[in-house]
Amino acid sequence: RSLATHSFTPSTLNSVNADDIAHFSKILSPSSILSTLPPVSLPPSDIAGFNNDWMNKYHGKSTTVLRPRTTQEVSDIVKWCSERRIGIVPQGGNTGLVGGGVPVQDELILSLGNMNKVRSFDPVSGILVADAGCILESLSEYLAPHSHIVPLDLGAKGSCQIGGNVSTNAGGLRLLRYGSLHGSVLGLEVVLPDGTIMNQLSSPRKDNTGYDLKQLFIGAEGTLGIVTGVSILAAPAPQATNNVVLALPRFENVLPLFVEVKKQLSEILSAFEFFDRRSYELSVRHGQGRALSGEEIEGAECFVLVETSGGKREHDEEKLNTLLESLLEADQPLINTGVVAQSPAQFASIWAIREGITESISKEGKAYKYDISIPLAKFKEVVDMTRDHLQSKGLLRDDAVRHVVGYGHVGDGNLHLNVVAADYTPEIQAALEPFVYELVASHKGSVSAEHGIGLMKTHALHYSKDSVNIEWMRKIKQLFDPRGIMNPGKVLE
Ligand code: FAD
Ligand code: MLT
Ligand code: ZN
Repeated sequence: RSLATHSFTPSTLNSVNADDIAHFSKILSPSSILSTLPPVSLPPSDIAGFNNDWMNKYHGKSTTVLRPRTTQEVSDIVKWCSERRIGIVPQGGNTGLVGGGVPVQDELILSLGNMNKVRSFDPVSGILVADAGCILESLSEYLAPHSHIVPLDLGAKGSCQIGGNVSTNAGGLRLLRYGSLHGSVLGLEVVLPDGTIMNQLSSPRKDNTGYDLKQLFIGAEGTLGIVTGVSILAAPAPQATNNVVLALPRFENVLPLFVEVKKQLSEILSAFEFFDRRSYELSVRHGQGRALSGEEIEGAECFVLVETSGGKREHDEEKLNTLLESLLEADQPLINTGVVAQSPAQFASIWAIREGITESISKEGKAYKYDISIPLAKFKEVVDMTRDHLQSKGLLRDDAVRHVVGYGHVGDGNLHLNVVAADYTPEIQAALEPFVYELVASHKGSVSAEHGIGLMKTHALHYSKDSVNIEWMRKIKQLFDPRGIMNPGKVLE
């Protein structure tokens, strides 16, 4: 169902027609063209997966999906679409959470999944160059025997693509340790909206030769061009990793806990992730990781997952155990208890609880997802205020809003406020927006910490960017894409 706020119509754009399909047949092999138009004439159900987003919240009406195998094919397609003024939606793994990767109307979908080769890896510098359609997890698997890791990890790793990650500037679970993609991406290959190929893949690690254009495409969500290749600095694989779930009696303890954990673990701290009790319960209820047991767990208001990644197992374990002892033996303990992983299976299970929250929410109902940056001290207040607000509107009931939960990347000041409802309805939407965005703005936060703007938040951009910034974003869009064909209706209204 399309919601009222998302009314963009790319009226100046043309629909794909049978002549276009005939032209694409000269560029691509037949198996790379999926279309409901003649002569391909597939049933719409064959391309439904490309028209609907991961949450099943945003629905496009595209007739045609093209799946090129080379950068030259992408360039030839884009050239044609530019001349014909056909809108293009670049699509990676279609795991985005803001409706950016599916069409608004019947734009052409350009799916990068067939561009899935590693181009090179240099074990000395750690520089990995890969096609944009490589799945994040397969890049991790590729790097493992070379003792390196991708400096990015997220729950969607099994489906999302490195080109999609770069295009959304995905944050994820390792940002605390390895920083954002604005730092680790060294170069990109991009097909610009007129079909020109811009190649910066051979950029060395240090390169101060004028404007750093690649930065514009990191987080551009496909509105400025199509990323076809990525050069990224892989990190040396840690020799030892460990994790622990800490159960906290009160949310107020999270902040002093973060300070203490950073102080004691310093260089081996690699993640500090937060989830409230309701998120935890949803995750284990839907089979994401094994439930934790014990009285102290029962009494916990929220949880923190701490991960260490270091060079020597004994050294790291000693640090982690000393941390735990000092936390438990303090006069006023910040935690009720801590469960340290004792085996690779338990390590995975602890991570599954945190990473599985997103999936468990989607099994529980329809998610209104607010991915916000606010001061850490306000995380609980914002979740509670949102729940109270929905309660005051009479919407907190099983056939409307079922849960209001908070989890996220505490270490990065990023809260995921999720409202889990029986359905997407205009009534719930109107109760949540602009309420949530005004709350975020009152804390001078960001309405999108890591998921992007997509279609969902075009109308909310102004809560986090002033008119001067938005005006210059528009000028950049106009400069790169004067014909307005690249992912129309996304990021900018
Ligand atoms: P898609 O969803 O296909 O596309 C996303 C956007 O990028 C769209 O606007 C699309 O047009 C554009 N795009 C895609 N590929 C290209 C390309 N090659 N060139 C130009 N534009 C392109 N995000 C986080 O930041 N942190 C998380 O921890 C996190 N965890 C997640 C966990 C789950 C279970 C799920 C479902 C999602 C999660 N996400 C997270 C959302 C995140 O944005 C995506 O998972 C990921 O970065 C998008 O990659 P994708 O290949 O699926 O892109
Ligand atoms: C996460 O941190 O789990 C992801 O960003 C996905 C989500 O927000 O649900
Ligand atoms: Zn996240």
